[in-house]
Amino acid sequence: MSSEPAPNDLSSFWMPFTANQAFKKDPRMLVAAEGVHYKSQDGRDILDGTAGLWCVNAGHKNPRISEAIKAQVDELDYAPTFQFGHPKAFELANRVAGLFPDGLDHVFFTNSGSESVDTALKIALAYHRGRGQGSRTRLIGRERGYHGTGFGGISVGGIVKNRMYFGSLLSGVDHLRHTHDPERNSFTRGCPVYGGELAEDLERLVGLHDASTIAAVIVEPMAGSTGVLLPPLGYLRRLREICDRHGILLIFDEVITAFGRLGTASASKYFDVKPDIITCAKGITNGVIPMGAVVVTNNIYESFMDHADAPIEFFHGYTYSGHPIAAAAGLATLDVYREDGLFERAADLAPYFEDTVHALKGRRHIRDIRNLGLVGALELEPRPGAPGARGFETMVKAYQKGVMVRVTGDILAFSPPLIIERGQIDQMFETVAACLDDVE
Ligand SMILES: Cc1ncc(COP(=O)(O)O)c(C=O)c1O
Repeated sequence: MSSEPAPNDLSSFWMPFTANQAFKKDPRMLVAAEGVHYKSQDGRDILDGTAGLWCVNAGHKNPRISEAIKAQVDELDYAPTFQFGHPKAFELANRVAGLFPDGLDHVFFTNSGSESVDTALKIALAYHRGRGQGSRTRLIGRERGYHGTGFGGISVGGIVKNRMYFGSLLSGVDHLRHTHDPERNSFTRGCPVYGGELAEDLERLVGLHDASTIAAVIVEPMAGSTGVLLPPLGYLRRLREICDRHGILLIFDEVITAFGRLGTASASKYFDVKPDIITCAKGITNGVIPMGAVVVTNNIYESFMDHADAPIEFFHGYTYSGHPIAAAAGLATLDVYREDGLFERAADLAPYFEDTVHALKGRRHIRDIRNLGLVGALELEPRPGAPGARGFETMVKAYQKGVMVRVTGDILAFSPPLIIERGQIDQMFETVAACLDDVE
């Protein structure tokens, strides 16, 4: 191979979570974005039905966020946060803490959802050890959970393809049963009525392993990447009660639900269930610059401060934790959410969104429809002998017709920027339904 890559040579970039060979034969190349639209390389407007990857909640190229980043580059481009600090990281931590439930007031910065998850799991283990309960080493996830792609995240996660290629993963992990029950709950509007009792599966694991060996349980309060699986009514509260009964920390992975997706600052607020640790990322900077965060209770933070056996209370961090440009982007993003009332806007739009997606019931290939806040999913009947093919082809066809959707197997997920208009919601769902008419 020549050392000079040819223009438009797609071979070197090994694309993440992508069918590389298929993509490189028929690329879907995005070259610009504004508001709720991308611009494709062939000059078409593509309605962003997925807020990028569930992150661009305020829409693309928001001028206040862009300006804040430009100003920050000129002021302080990088500063370490190991043994030094810069003001915006502290300011952003205060602002982020203020958005989550009372009593979760301490924030550890990361660069992604996966890093937030690994950080949260490490906090849970070190917290128990610091309190003299070092036998609590077991981590409990849930089948079909998605917690990013670090070894911690795939170990507690429950998606087989994210696990099966990667050896023995973390030891000492177990999984709750998943809550997806299409037999009883299909076409439910909002949270499923049946399945709250599945939280009791945690008691089974406590019975098997003993609570004294369990550090934490991690779940997505609303699971997106695995195909939009909503918590059955009462499920999260019961999980909270069982964790309390046994001294187990409860971690909510809010990487996609924090920052307005459900019409509230967090899913914890939406469901009125307070976990001990929240992981977030994505919408914290509107996706413009990578950043994640782990928000913990005062009890956990103070326990580290009281029980630390070294001057550095938590031996963990990333070169870019609280990066100045990400911090500036985060502060501007939170300003936009507040000044433009975007969480309230999402809450106001949610019933219209729900009616529009459920109006597709009966359309070709649709086996189930689910929704919550500004999240929707169409689950398709898989094509016999070719699971996932129908979903993938529908995604490609929708792109050709000007709408970006996300596909997981045969589940199409919708999570548009919170600034989407009603007419654009109609366009998004109508376009996809028309594609289903065309796809075999
Ligand atoms: C619930 C959840 N956790 C973690 C992640 C991983 O985030 P990242 O891709 O930023 O590492 C995601 C990504 O979609 C997610 O949905």
